[in-house]
Amino acid sequence: MPDLGGKVAIVTGAASGIGKTTAETLARHGAAVVVAGHSENGAEEVAAEIRAQGGTAIGVGVEVTDEEQVKAMIGAAVTAYGGLDCLHNNAAATKMHRDSDVVNVATEVWDETMAVNLRGPFFGCKYAIPEMLKRGGGAIVNTSSAAGLKAERIRVSYGVSKAALHGLTRHVANAYGKQNVRCNAIALGMILTEAAERNVEPKMLAYLEEHNALARLGKTADVAEVVAFLFSDAASFITGEVIAVDGGFTSHLPALVD
Ligand SMILES: NC(=O)c1ccc[n+]([C@@H]2O[C@H](COP(=O)([O-])OP(=O)(O)OC[C@H]3O[C@@H](n4cnc5c(N)ncnc54)[C@H](O)[C@@H]3O)[C@@H](O)[C@H]2O)c1
Repeated sequence: MPDLGGKVAIVTGAASGIGKTTAETLARHGAAVVVAGHSENGAEEVAAEIRAQGGTAIGVGVEVTDEEQVKAMIGAAVTAYGGLDCLHNNAAATKMHRDSDVVNVATEVWDETMAVNLRGPFFGCKYAIPEMLKRGGGAIVNTSSAAGLKAERIRVSYGVSKAALHGLTRHVANAYGKQNVRCNAIALGMILTEAAERNVEPKMLAYLEEHNALARLGKTADVAEVVAFLFSDAASFITGEVIAVDGGFTSHLPALVD
């Protein structure tokens, strides 16, 4: 089990899905966790559950596209726990029914997606790193997607925002690596969150599963444990990487599967 004892971690988008499981997992591995949700109530609910299980957590509300609110989120970690070691930039615009191809997508959908998926992690890195430097280093994990590694015919805003996140990841790794700040991205395949089970048609889930190398789709815990490892000292020589956590989804030539 990765040991995160003594570390302070922030997880954005942590009131639901992958972020929620990650916040719970980091706390179970010993971290003090700032559960950052889009709504303060949702975040506090998750933090209260963590505390009820014996973990250490507070909940804060944050709109990740708002610079002052991201600053306040980082400040909340410092006020509550004395500093910051780990940041998981997990929040993203995940309701993608309006995203489309480059010709047909509405410009405001492109702008909104870029704001949440890229401007948000940019602010996170911008204000987390100075706090990490005060503690001699830290670790950042940016959540990306298979759609950032490979192109799709649809979801241009989402895919391009995640591909750009890989650039931010490598920039941070190189600009602050000498000062012991590590930064990695995880590129996820289909992960069965409650929302995904509710919103994605069973036929589509079966199709995605068939195209994984493994015989199943992902669970939120599959992702959370990788984040915990990347935050731990066991991963202290890993930085600037985009690590696929996708059951082998991007490991093959899709046309040949069929
Ligand atoms: N579930 C999957 O199959 C899958 C696949 C690839 C990548 N991902 C990525 O995993 C991450 C988590 O997604 P999820 O599947 O758990 O979905 P989710 O919708 O449950 O999580 C996204 C979270 O981000 C928050 N959020 C959205 N806009 C925000 C904003 N402007 N400010 C603050 N918070 C905001 C939402 O409230 C939500 O809690 C995302 O980065 C997503 O792109 C998920």
